Amino acid sequence: MIASLKPRVALLFGGHSLEHSVSCISAWWTLQHIDHSKYLVVPIAIDKKGKWHVLKMSAIKPYLSLNKSLIEQVDSEESIPTGWLDPRFESGNELFSPSLIKKSIDVAYVMIHGFPGEDGSLAGLFSYLDIPVVGCGAMALSIGMHKIMSKQIVSGAGIDVAKYQAVKKSNPYSVDAIVDTLELPLFVKPVNSGSSIGISKVHNKEGLRESIELAFNFSNEVLIESMVYGREIEVAVVEIEGRAVACPLGEIISGSDFYSYSAKYDKNSPATTRLPQDIDPGAYKNLQETAIKVFEALSFKGMGRIDFFLTKKNRVVFNEVNAIPGFTPISLFPMMAKAHGISGIELTTLLIENALAKTDSLSLLC
Ligand SMILES: Nc1ncnc2c1ncn2[C@@H]1O[C@H](COP(=O)(O)OP(=O)(O)O)[C@@H](O)[C@H]1O
Ligand SMILES: [Mg+2]
Repeated sequence: MIASLKPRVALLFGGHSLEHSVSCISAWWTLQHIDHSKYLVVPIAIDKKGKWHVLKMSAIKPYLSLNKSLIEQVDSEESIPTGWLDPRFESGNELFSPSLIKKSIDVAYVMIHGFPGEDGSLAGLFSYLDIPVVGCGAMALSIGMHKIMSKQIVSGAGIDVAKYQAVKKSNPYSVDAIVDTLELPLFVKPVNSGSSIGISKVHNKEGLRESIELAFNFSNEVLIESMVYGREIEVAVVEIEGRAVACPLGEIISGSDFYSYSAKYDKNSPATTRLPQDIDPGAYKNLQETAIKVFEALSFKGMGRIDFFLTKKNRVVFNEVNAIPGFTPISLFPMMAKAHGISGIELTTLLIENALAKTDSLSLLC
């Protein structure tokens, strides 16, 4: 880092996955909540073909506006004051080559859900370049994104998970045997997607093969799970001075069959999110403590959203983790952090400072 300059934070967003638009919205929230008196931002858009572009300030809004269906949720009156961005990048829309990155930035803030952010690909590249990343390192990201691997580690730590089976594209499977073992209804999921993309809820045997084949369009391995009947509870965990801290809980009320892509993002979706006040105090504490256990078992750093089901009998069942959770207007993570007393600007500062404190190669990788 050049001593006289503020640390340069590369904010990466977009990416060539189906979650491109969601990432752009989360990046917009992040850009607005970075402390611009402390850091210079280098906004890097990865387009749908995988090309990297450093955006000059005037190009950010039009770029984000390309994602029409979601951008409506962002207040169009908001704009970015001059002086927030590194002036050296103001003039260009140039291709940002990875070999130049090391000379140009001090820390990478990857706000890309799914590939190539949340799965650890970019964190691996940055760790190779000796550049710290905000949040988890490549290993925790790739395991956290893999729904089967993360379940195995979490259940190995003594935490309840739904009954499940894995099916590989290259291997034959028996629909009858799966239904006999797991019982209907079932959830069929690509192992490494997000935003409910490729996920089906299966109510009958006939629908199972179709749902498995659909999920194979997104990954070579598919997870099939028994349905857990319960409330959907999310826990934001933030690393503060080296300790994992659980924030007040959040709840999703999907208002439909399950929390599908359309339930998450359609304008007219009946889904709502809230900070529940009616959970049994013992179960509340158990959810927070279990979230911390999951965070630690998976070697998470910086932040993580840990999702559970809470049954009528207050059984806590792990669902999945999100190392780069959504920061859209409906996302629970910023609300839960705020309820703990961590404002948006405090959260991004905490994450950037945690990242800048990573100095050795092991802390960059993990
Ligand atoms: N085993 C399950 N039992 C009940 N509902 C489930 C189960 N698995 C997934 N769901 C529903 O499907 C949604 C998406 O599944 P999830 O594993 O969280 O995928 P994603 O990573 O895409 O968010 C969940 O929010 C929940 O509504
Ligand atoms: Mg989920």
